[in-house]
Amino acid sequence: MKLADFDAWMRSELDAVERALERWVPTDAPAGLGLAMRYGVLDGGKRVRPLLVLAAAQAVHGNQDAAMRAACAVELIHAYSLVHDDMPCMDNDILRRGKPTVHVRYGEAQAMLAGDAMQALAFEVLTPCANSLTALPGPHGVPPALQARLCALLARAAGHAGMAGGQAIDLVSIGRPLDERTLRDMHHRKTGALLQASVLMGAACGTTTPAAWQALSEYGDAIGLAFQVVDDILDVTQESETLGKTAGKDASDNKPTYVTVLGLDAARRHAAELRDTALAALARSGLAQAAWLSLLADKIVERDS
Ligand code: IPE
Ligand code: IPE
Ligand code: MG
Ligand code: MG
Ligand code: MG
Repeated sequence: MKLADFDAWMRSELDAVERALERWVPTDAPAGLGLAMRYGVLDGGKRVRPLLVLAAAQAVHGNQDAAMRAACAVELIHAYSLVHDDMPCMDNDILRRGKPTVHVRYGEAQAMLAGDAMQALAFEVLTPCANSLTALPGPHGVPPALQARLCALLARAAGHAGMAGGQAIDLVSIGRPLDERTLRDMHHRKTGALLQASVLMGAACGTTTPAAWQALSEYGDAIGLAFQVVDDILDVTQESETLGKTAGKDASDNKPTYVTVLGLDAARRHAAELRDTALAALARSGLAQAAWLSLLADKIVERDS
């Protein structure tokens, strides 16, 4: 498979995701809420999670309407987590995706509500309902059982056992020297869970054997952790301009990270090992069309922003 084919696939999927989000994130929410939501979601971010959904769905010949809804739903949850993560009560960041953060631009209350509404919108997008007066526009080709399955996977990754739980551990860990096991658990939850769910939601859009499902779950688990290990590395190795967010923030906030716990070189080696673990799982999946998932694993580990 040529890299040029991968780039072309990514460009076309990213374009489709942007158009879908543009359509689904409201312009008419009351009292300026829609503006804050659109500011937090549209026109920015690498869209790694949607790409994972769509690559996994393609590998299992999944339902395309469902896959695009799942891709946008995961991105909405992720974008909401960033809006809240940046607020003064959490990481207190002023720069995100190369722009002032949502609370800097629209105020704290509006940022909190925009995050809340983005989370709810994710589940609205997953549950299209042709007869409802408030149904979101678009084709409705998602069987109810698949809607429920996608909601279940996303809710569990976003909630107390996943992202929100991980963020809670992150906040109580400030200034504490964590051991590697606790750090791994925190990173698995706060970041890994949503990336793993992206892969599994894509896979749920098609048919898989139990062995392929298990292999994709292990792939998602490994690249999910790798993603946050690399995020920790980039915080110390890149400039704010490249990242589109404030560099050096983990050290200035006294956060335990893979860099503080293992050191930079060992953190880099660990990210590479996790990529190898992910690729080995993918090989076990027996899926013939897993090239995009394999190249996404490389991209997650080799990125510079
Ligand atoms: C940043 O995620 C927060 C983490 C979970 C590490 P991304 O690096 O995916 O941020 P965007 O979406 O590209 O802005
Ligand atoms: C955030 O981790 C994980 C989320 C659930 C949003 P970080 O706090 O390290 O993310 P950045 O570095 O601000 O993007
Ligand atoms: Mg944080
Ligand atoms: Mg942060
Ligand atoms: Mg970070």
